[in-house]
Amino acid sequence: MKTLIINIKELIQVRDSSILKVSGAEMADLPTIKNAYLVIENDLIADFGSMENVPEDINPEKCIDVDGKMVLPAWCDSHTHIVYAGNREQEFVDRINGLSYEEIANRGGGILNSARKLNETSRDELYNQSKVRLEEIMHLGTGAVEIKSGYGLTVDGELKMLRVIKRLSKEYPITIKATFLGAHAVPREFKENRKGYVDLIIDKMLPEIAKNKLADFIDVFCETGYFTVSETEQIMQAGIRFGLKPKIHVNQFNSIGGVQAAIKYNALSVDHLEIMESEDIEALRDTDTIPVALPSCSYFLGIPYTPVREMMAKGLPLALATDFNPGSTPSGNMNFVISTACIKMKMTPEEAINAATLNGAYAMGISETHGSITIGKKANLIITKPISSYYQLPYAFGSNLIDTVFIKGKVFA
Ligand code: NIG
Ligand code: FE
Repeated sequence: MKTLIINIKELIQVRDSSILKVSGAEMADLPTIKNAYLVIENDLIADFGSMENVPEDINPEKCIDVDGKMVLPAWCDSHTHIVYAGNREQEFVDRINGLSYEEIANRGGGILNSARKLNETSRDELYNQSKVRLEEIMHLGTGAVEIKSGYGLTVDGELKMLRVIKRLSKEYPITIKATFLGAHAVPREFKENRKGYVDLIIDKMLPEIAKNKLADFIDVFCETGYFTVSETEQIMQAGIRFGLKPKIHVNQFNSIGGVQAAIKYNALSVDHLEIMESEDIEALRDTDTIPVALPSCSYFLGIPYTPVREMMAKGLPLALATDFNPGSTPSGNMNFVISTACIKMKMTPEEAINAATLNGAYAMGISETHGSITIGKKANLIITKPISSYYQLPYAFGSNLIDTVFIKGKVFA
């Protein structure tokens, strides 16, 4: 099955297969081809180039003329919690009325509130609620997504979440990576016995998850009031023993040494980073660990934005993700993330698009197959509406500029 797309006004994020992420000053560069064609064969990008060289010998089953429109790789959202039950609208209103995220968590709301709801929800019902969000983000242009557990906080609850993630990845074409986040909060029953909960994660949850191949990565919410650096290290070590690479929540509210711990265990990514000391930035230099910023979380909670300009000035790569979850970011819209990154964190459109495509793929360990227009990569594509330039994408922050989304070579309708 071959599809030929012609008269692409600009083909964006054209890369050689050897480039797996871009860092520092390289992020300012977004390679494109103006007036281009692209060939999809089955689920892959088979060929592309300038319209002057459009192949005449191929006999496509379908030829799509996209005059005036642009084509770019589908978004790669490397950090979400989209499998959850119910919502936390009441906490949203409580925050408007003056309570902080921390105060809400301390009185049993927050993550523990979502955990209570999740444990009361059947696996089928959880799947039905989650698939609505998955379909929504695909329509918004996301072609690969990481989804975390972490609202179970019991053996059964965590397994239920991971099984729902597995079922979503079977039923939908979008690429899904699963992360085990049993260490998202300490359940109330373990408040006086934290070690008991860490042991439950390591001795009961992890072996069961590994046996059933339910996760690719391990995560910990390393933060004051959640998990200490030393608990984070223990859990990362255990995860690694079961073949799960760490991707860690760090520095959302406090800088407590989580970045350094994650690097020590060669984490694939460190995520959040709203509060960064200069030593945290320094520690990330010359490592393979990619920083991931979540600007919609800062927007929704009113907390600082990740200091991405300082980080890129030090040569670091950067990925952007949504953090889609019921408490701190009830939105999976990568288009909004890109706009917010430009408007609030002063990223240029080129930097933001790099961070949301190739670098997002790197942060999920899939940049060999996703995140750029490269022959042999998955044909995960966004076709825009007619636009004057790709600057429109972050500039027109409330508009939907997506015409069509291709996932694995097929239109997602
Ligand atoms: O990434 N920070 C930890 N976890 C989520 C929020 C969890 C929640 O409030 O439900 C986050 O922001
Ligand atoms: Fe998160």
